Amino acid sequence: MPSKKVMIIGASGHGKVIADIIHQSGDKVMGFLDDDPTKKEIHQIPVLGKIEDIQKYKNDFCFIIGIGDNQIRKEIAESNPALNYYTAIHPTAVIGEGVRIGNGTAVMAGVVINVDADIGEHCIINTAAVIEHDCIIGDYTHVSPQACLCGNVHVGEECHIGAGVTVINNLSICLKCTIGIGAVVVSNIEKQGIYIGNPAKEK
Ligand SMILES: CC(C)(COP(=O)(O)OP(=O)(O)OC[C@H]1O[C@@H](n2cnc3c(N)ncnc32)[C@H](O)[C@@H]1OP(=O)(O)O)[C@@H](O)C(=O)NCCC(=O)NCCS
Repeated sequence: MPSKKVMIIGASGHGKVIADIIHQSGDKVMGFLDDDPTKKEIHQIPVLGKIEDIQKYKNDFCFIIGIGDNQIRKEIAESNPALNYYTAIHPTAVIGEGVRIGNGTAVMAGVVINVDADIGEHCIINTAAVIEHDCIIGDYTHVSPQACLCGNVHVGEECHIGAGVTVINNLSICLKCTIGIGAVVVSNIEKQGIYIGNPAKEK
């Protein structure tokens, strides 16, 4: 199959990690779009314009939103629903049978997503995170490096699960929650907010 040509929206640290995944997958990064005029190129890949220039390239390339902020990713995706979105999966990720990964999601190096898990659109499943069997992750959610969601955990839209967080199996976390680095979630979280510590409590 001929390689895909991809434009990355956002030329920051997260965008460059996505560029690396795309290259390691055998596809080609054509450029970045970013509103910061001081950004010219990353690793010889040019910044070809601002985010509004999506329109100029929309018929030629696939796109992925390489911006870590969940809300900004959501705003850009909702303003551009008809783009051909690229799903970036690092070749070292282990993806189980029956797993669904939504359009525009990025799955980083060393991730494990186990059998029948369901990952939404425009999510970030960051380096070495573990998403166990039957988990459901809502759109625009970011699961940070080395977080571990045990089996059948449900996470709502636009959550940020911090680095190294552990969530006990069969729990639910409602939409737009932030779980701080290293927290251990031992009961359902039903109210939007920031939760920290072991056991995790609202901050
Ligand atoms: C929880 C979090 C969102 C809080 O951010 P914040 O509101 O800016 O909080 P602050 O840094 O001002 O800290 C406020 C207090 O909470 C404490 N705190 C912050 N994060 C904490 C955490 N994860 N666990 C325990 N305590 C924490 C701070 O020590 C501070 O305590 P103090 O008031 O006694 O001094 C943030 O610290 C965090 O953990 N973010 C996740 C980051 C992450 O995973 N990044 C990975 C990106 S790939």
